[in-house]
Amino acid sequence: MRKLIVANYKMNGDKKLFKQIVKKINKIKLRDTKVVLCPPFIYLNEFKIKNNIVSIGSQDITNDENSKSTGQISAKMLLEHDVKYVIVGHSERRKIGENDKLINQKINVCLNNFLMPIICVGEEKKTDKLDIVLSQIKNALDSINKNFVPIIAYEPVWSIGTGKLPSINRIDKMIDMIKSFLKTIGYNESLVLYGGSVGLDNYKEIIKSKIDGLLLGGVSLRIDKFIKILKGIDNE
Ligand code: PGA
Repeated sequence: MRKLIVANYKMNGDKKLFKQIVKKINKIKLRDTKVVLCPPFIYLNEFKIKNNIVSIGSQDITNDENSKSTGQISAKMLLEHDVKYVIVGHSERRKIGENDKLINQKINVCLNNFLMPIICVGEEKKTDKLDIVLSQIKNALDSINKNFVPIIAYEPVWSIGTGKLPSINRIDKMIDMIKSFLKTIGYNESLVLYGGSVGLDNYKEIIKSKIDGLLLGGVSLRIDKFIKILKGIDNE
């Protein structure tokens, strides 16, 4: 099945690195894998993509396009840079105060502008009750129309950047739980990605689970490793 691989560069990289990444990514040929690259806003202009399996994503978006918002970025600006996807509600943004209501508003702005949100959810601690994840999804999609296929990135916070991973069983359990919950609220189709400490040494295991794709942080900056992962997944 076709996999979606999202690279979240976070607040990393520079012009030189992104030039190299774009050069290599423009040459890559994949049969059955789709790639989304999410640079910091200030480098969006470096991403002149000439490869139809690769799209550009944003790491965030404003919730209110009509306000005077110092430091924010609007859908209109993102569209001008060929952005197609937007990461919404990443745990690193939740940590600095982003709540479910704001995330819901951002998803609305995305959909009103034909941008596809990648909605990040995940429990804080390994021992947390997993239904917190369902309530994050419920609140994120509150009053959002049912005519789109939600992309959910399940990212246990305790796994992000720590090298600690949930078992494949736990990932599969979460994927099933998320997909069946989405059905109960009217979304028959959905894509569920996994994110958190995926690298060259463990992606083959993770990809055996029921996931529809991956959200990669740290490893996406290591272009050779990243390309090996893409090719490896594409050959599965
Ligand atoms: P990581 O980050 O792959 O470096 O753990 C994932 C993420 O934050 O999306």
